[in-house]
Amino acid sequence: MTTAIEKACDILNKGDVVGMPTETVYGLAASIKNENGIKKIFAIKERPFFDPLIVHVSSQKMAKDLVTTWPTTAEILANNFWPGPLTIVLPKNKNVSELITSGLDSVGLRCPNHPVALELIQKMGHGLAAPSANKFTKTSPTTSSHVKEEFSDEVMVLEGGACQVGIESTVVGVENNIVKIYRPGDITRQDILDVLGSNNTNKVSVEYASSPVAPGQLQHHYMPEAPVVLTSDHKLADLDEKIVIRPAYWNVPKDPVLAARQLYSKFRELSKQKPSCIVVVIPNSYIRDESWRAIYNRLTKAASYNLLAKEHSHHSKVLD
Ligand code: TXA
Ligand code: MG
Repeated sequence: MTTAIEKACDILNKGDVVGMPTETVYGLAASIKNENGIKKIFAIKERPFFDPLIVHVSSQKMAKDLVTTWPTTAEILANNFWPGPLTIVLPKNKNVSELITSGLDSVGLRCPNHPVALELIQKMGHGLAAPSANKFTKTSPTTSSHVKEEFSDEVMVLEGGACQVGIESTVVGVENNIVKIYRPGDITRQDILDVLGSNNTNKVSVEYASSPVAPGQLQHHYMPEAPVVLTSDHKLADLDEKIVIRPAYWNVPKDPVLAARQLYSKFRELSKQKPSCIVVVIPNSYIRDESWRAIYNRLTKAASYNLLAKEHSHHSKVLD
């Protein structure tokens, strides 16, 4: 009998894509050795070619086979956080096509902490390129049914249960003596500093930095169907009546681990009620709290109206 994983391998080897569970969010995977599969990711996600894909590996050995250098800092990060929600960006070698990296000479690598993903990658014997399995700029999927809703029957999805982390990996670039955090995630700046700790003889610094990828073009992201309003109280002052007429509320739970896990499924669940907006109520004190940083990052990108920042932006699709 063919197992689901064997079937997935056949599909990948034929140049098609597969929905893959990871501990962060579900990915839409293709073999890095098959250009048709890679092209299909961009096509069905409606993702622009300027946004590079990350490559998922099942071991450090597999990662080293894709880069020109494996600095000590990368080794320490991989030893401590892999398998896990950390993507490490390093100079790529010729085994990684420019289609995957959008012409950049670097590649993002991650070893996901999910038994199904690890088994699939191991069976394939090489890396799988996989972005989150959602249409470009939309909410990431945290269950297999989210992926099926997004792509209907077009895509085979491996079942892996609900994602434990719930938001995408921390993305870091490793350059000389600096670790640059391009995207905050479950692994925080402090977590990284802690593991560099006693080994940090080269005085490696850890800094938040803007991503080298098309800055400015990726401001809006993670958006559910209904426009999101961020507020610290339940007040919706100053907003157009069309927006506030039938709000759905999500009071974020006190525990950031739970909040991250629930975030995207709440977005999807509340959107189904066809509200005029989704009001996310988050206490002001959380915004300056490091453990909320990754969640706040996703919320601000998803929000059409950020009453916390007193900045209004437009959700053109809904307002048009
Ligand atoms: O948790 C995750 O990372 C999930 C699961 C499926 O592994 N994947 C994911 O992929 O979130 P995606 O494509 O939605 O986001 C990858 C991010 C993008 O923001 C992309 O710009 C950045 O990683 N990225 C990829 N390659 C890069 C590179 N060479 N340099 C800088 N940023 C890069
Ligand atoms: Mg994504």
